[in-house]
Amino acid sequence: MRITNATRDHAAAIAGIYNEGIEDRLATLETEPRSAEERAEWLAARDARHPVLIALDGDGTVLGWGSLNTFNPRVAYDHVVDFSVYVGRAHRGRGVGNALLGALEERARALGYHKMVLAAFPFNSAGMRLYERHGFRTVGVYHEQGLLDGQWVDTIVMEKLLSG
Ligand SMILES: CC(C)(COP(=O)(O)OP(=O)(O)OC[C@H]1O[C@@H](n2cnc3c(N)ncnc32)[C@H](O)[C@@H]1OP(=O)(O)O)[C@@H](O)C(=O)NCCC(=O)NCCS
Repeated sequence: MRITNATRDHAAAIAGIYNEGIEDRLATLETEPRSAEERAEWLAARDARHPVLIALDGDGTVLGWGSLNTFNPRVAYDHVVDFSVYVGRAHRGRGVGNALLGALEERARALGYHKMVLAAFPFNSAGMRLYERHGFRTVGVYHEQGLLDGQWVDTIVMEKLLSG
């Protein structure tokens, strides 16, 4: 497996993997599926401080993707970055998420961020395990934060300081 920057050519694979995550209802409060065209625009709009990385196997299949996302556009938050990590259903549980999060953290450090943050569902066992293994600590839980398919869901907020 190798991890590299995503390009427009990867938009369809990124959309497919994201849509699996949306359908699973374990990863995100997002409910609208994405198209390759929409993800191509999303990729084109990203700047150098907000890269999208992909994990590829030997034959170029996209196994998963991760991104560093704006946490808050106010200048005082420039040192904080949010992130996403999604692995294709067929490739989960084989270390891809672990490798992507390691690469995101390395990139975040290289870009000078002070902190990584995330919001997740507490019942996302794989995600929780992944984040705890990477040293993220729980800041708190927003109770009944989202209404997903008519059900209230909690979200857990986590952070990791990268320096200091
Ligand atoms: C969460 C996700 C990114 C993890 O990536 P992955 O490649 O499946 O996970 P890895 O194989 O790298 O394993 C990471 C850790 O989670 C554990 N894990 C993997 N799948 C698990 C599961 N279903 N239940 C519990 N723990 C699990 C692994 O054992 C490993 O822990 P360890 O190092 O202590 O052994 C991936 O499952 C995924 O994309 N899920 C759907 C989208 C999503 O939930 N994204 C996160 C949104 S917050």
